[in-house]
Parts: sequence; structure tokens; C-alpha cells
Amino acid sequence: MLKETNAENGSRHILLCLSGSISAYKAASLASALVKDGHEVQCAATESALQFIGPAALEGITRKPLKKELFAESSEIEHIELARWADLILLYPASAATIARLRAGLAEDLVSAIFLANNFQSPYWIAPAMNSRMLEHPATQENINILMKWGARIIETETGTLACGETGTGRLVEPETIHAMIKELFG
Ligand SMILES: Cc1cc2nc3c(=O)[nH]c(=O)nc-3n(C[C@H](O)[C@H](O)[C@H](O)COP(=O)(O)O)c2cc1C
Repeated sequence: MLKETNAENGSRHILLCLSGSISAYKAASLASALVKDGHEVQCAATESALQFIGPAALEGITRKPLKKELFAESSEIEHIELARWADLILLYPASAATIARLRAGLAEDLVSAIFLANNFQSPYWIAPAMNSRMLEHPATQENINILMKWGARIIETETGTLACGETGTGRLVEPETIHAMIKELFG
């Protein structure tokens, strides 16, 4: 169910959340494609995500300061405002650890707090990215199933060569594929 905001000119508010995966660089390509489509894109990242991609790339592409602090120097309560602002929240890439945090309902960092504050008022999409064994572990599988049952859309991983050199499932869906899915969502 989409909110009625910003629908007139086709521009939507997309909250792109990043967590700590080696594939985080792909979020820059996705953000760029969404900005070119005329959407407003706001990035939020976990501390670990910023080990893999620098804020400057995301800020330059989106022309918005990256959000990372739960306790920011701001008069606004960021996680509530961001969840309210978003027409779509996309966790891209979604690490095993962040998926576990969402399933546990922990709100210890900005990305997890946004998940709770949104409460599926806007679509919440999760694009896992991890080693095959991490993905197939019962802990991760159970976490994913619960998040799906609650209303999150899980974007299936791709099969291929992984960053660790192994071949299998767990590759983050390519930016072009998720971009097409977002186009379809917003018609
Ligand atoms: C080089 C490297 C690559 C990693 N890639 C992944 C990954 O693709 N997926 C994943 O779930 N964790 C990966 N991790 C582990 C996470 O970064 C780690 O669990 C981190 O605590 C996740 O934090 P976050 O979920 O708060 O972002 C990787 C770690 C390293 C050192």
C-alpha cells in the first residue's frame, strides 16, 4: 500500500538503508539510478556499512547528508521522521546481523529503529547479501521468514560467485534488477 505523498509528479521518497556487507558499493549505483528517475533518495547506514562505502559517494549522489546516528544533533527524532517521510524503505544490502536485529525488534541503531518506527506503513524491502552458509543457516532463514510474515518483502538473492570466492546463493540482487522492481512499484 503506497502513501499518497509526492505522487503527482511521480517523485517519491526512498529511504535507502545500508548495512555491513562487502556489496554495499552497489547501493551507490542504485541511488544514482533512482535520483536520475527524479526520486528523492535519503541514505541511512549502520556503522559497519561505512566500513565498506564512504559517506561522500552516497551524499554526492543523493545530495543529502547521510544519516547514521540515532542520537543526532537535531531537533527532530530522526528515526520517526525518516520512517514517516519514506514512501519506500529499502535495506540494500541487508547483512545477517541487521536482519537478526530487525527480527528481534531491537532499536539500538538508526537503521533498526527506522524499521520499528515504520511498522509497515510504507513498503519495507529487504535485500539480503551474504555468504551462502550464512544465508542458509537456520538462524538467518528463520529471521527472514518471520520478517516476511510480518509484511517485509524479501528480495531473493542471486546465485553466482561470492566475494569470499565460493559459488552459491547469497549474492546481492543487482542494482538494475531492484531498480526495475521499484519502477514497477511506483508505476
Ligand atoms: C570483508 C567483510 C565482508 C563482509 N561481508 C558481509 C556480507 O556480505 N554479509 C553479511 O551479512 N556480513 C558480512 N560481513 C560481516 C558484517 O559486516 C558484520 O556482521 C557486521 O557486524 C554487520 O553489521 P551491521 O549489520 O550492523 O551493518 C563482512 C565482514 C567483513 C570483514
